[in-house]
Amino acid sequence: MANPSIGYVIEKINNSADYNGLFQKAFNKEPGMETIGMAIASYERTLNSANSPFDRWYYGKDKKALDDKAQRGFELFNGKANCSSCHIIKPDYALFTDNDNHNTGIGYAEAMGKTDKIQRVQVAPGVYVDVAAALITSVAATKPNDLGRYEITQNPQDRWKYKTPSLRNISLTAPYMHNGSLQTLQQVVEFYNRGGIANENLDPLIKPLNLSKQEMADLIDFLNSLTGDNVQELVADAFAAPVGDTK
Ligand code: HEC
Repeated sequence: MANPSIGYVIEKINNSADYNGLFQKAFNKEPGMETIGMAIASYERTLNSANSPFDRWYYGKDKKALDDKAQRGFELFNGKANCSSCHIIKPDYALFTDNDNHNTGIGYAEAMGKTDKIQRVQVAPGVYVDVAAALITSVAATKPNDLGRYEITQNPQDRWKYKTPSLRNISLTAPYMHNGSLQTLQQVVEFYNRGGIANENLDPLIKPLNLSKQEMADLIDFLNSLTGDNVQELVADAFAAPVGDTK
């Protein structure tokens, strides 16, 4: 977050007139790595987004909230494409995640250097250029190994497992996957349709889906129906705080 170190952040909070002891009061502790992490997590838990067209159709029983294509996409999501086996959605469960970790092959591909030959790079907010991956590798610092859940458990079975993310507001949050290696929802659906990327620990739930072009388009329509109606409000709220050092 563009701060030079954790010590700098702690000092900033301690000297901020805005906080004035509020941090200590909330956590009964001085600000530190752990409590700052908890504070950020608490903030993130307030960022709830709902009442999407899908919600109005599925939970609100408004038959017109979702068009036929997106409804067919939802059928596929739960049926032939089997997405809901990990991105769980039920009448009493609205999160699109099983809160578990899975190997889809994305991390494996990264580790083996099998990412796309062209990478999209953001050079300024909203401004992208396509750059040859080889060029990036030639000038970039070597990335630390990215082994997923294994880094926590040291269990070889957990190599390249990542937590299933929610799919709410998914059409607004490209690029996709933990490393941003897929640029569009079309690419994501094609990735799953191919059966992910083969490796020895590939999750057994990931396999070729044999979806037609039309079925893939329907599935994407469904994913586009997951945008909540309060996103602008959440964004405005986040930007209401001054960005960076104001003094
Ligand atoms: C075996 C469990 C599993 C299945 C089945 C599955 N996913 Fe995923 N999905 C994941 C995991 C794990 C990730 C995160 C992977 C990563 O970050 O590298 C993910 C990531 C995604 C993302 C990117 C989310 C983001 O914020 O970057 C989308 C979109 C997505 N899945 C859609 C689908 C669709 C559509 C299907 C069905 C065709 C599907 N998934 C099937 C586990 C699964």
